[in-house]
Amino acid sequence: MQQVTTILQKDLTKCIKCGDELSDLNSTEVCYYCTNLMQLPKIFQNLTDSYGVKQSVIDNFNKSLFLTGGTGSGKTSYLVFMCKYRWRKKLLAKFINFPDWLNRAKININNLERSAVRLKEFPGLLGLDDIGAEKGSEFVIEKLYLIIDHRQSNGLQTVITSNFTLDELTKKTDPRITSRIKSMCIQMMFNGDKR
Ligand SMILES: Nc1ncnc2c1ncn2[C@@H]1O[C@H](COP(=O)(O)OP(=O)(O)O)[C@@H](O)[C@H]1O
Ligand SMILES: [Mg+2]
Ligand SMILES: [Zn+2]
Repeated sequence: MQQVTTILQKDLTKCIKCGDELSDLNSTEVCYYCTNLMQLPKIFQNLTDSYGVKQSVIDNFNKSLFLTGGTGSGKTSYLVFMCKYRWRKKLLAKFINFPDWLNRAKININNLERSAVRLKEFPGLLGLDDIGAEKGSEFVIEKLYLIIDHRQSNGLQTVITSNFTLDELTKKTDPRITSRIKSMCIQMMFNGDKR
């Protein structure tokens, strides 16, 4: 009887998702890394690098970047690897699919205001995936400007991906946005289709 009880007891020192040792024993059953993975779209949660971008991700660990190139060229994956690298080190990173964020936030204008403030002030890496894909209403442009202007003027790390170049985005959005991106970010071109 004694033995059965022992076997049924859960191992509370290990993450229930990945089995890694938990460093914070008091509250959670899921480690910091696995908790953060859940904010990624499913297909990116378990993606491993098969195109050798890892070294570049490490080299750009602290940099603000603008990733541009065609659909399927690996921009979102690169941003995902940057976030994962930080989560592995127990550092802050947030992954936002920008069109999704707009759609969710649009349902409630107060939500959107609050969420925009949280994004612009987020102290870790803020990843804004796929900007320019949304319809560029004046309202959207204003929100994007507030976020990017604040992050640029406060030196907060920001990684942006877009299917458009900065010149194309200038036409679609506002030169105030793209000039901030230009001065804050290193631009990286992606090409080829990796799907
Ligand atoms: N470094 C990589 N390692 C492994 N797979 C990759 C990598 N880059 C891209 N891919 C694959 O290509 C697909 C498209 O890449 P994605 O990052 O979504 O492109 P984009 O954001 O530029 O449209 C991904 O779902 C993934 O399967
Ligand atoms: Mg993408
Ligand atoms: Zn885990």
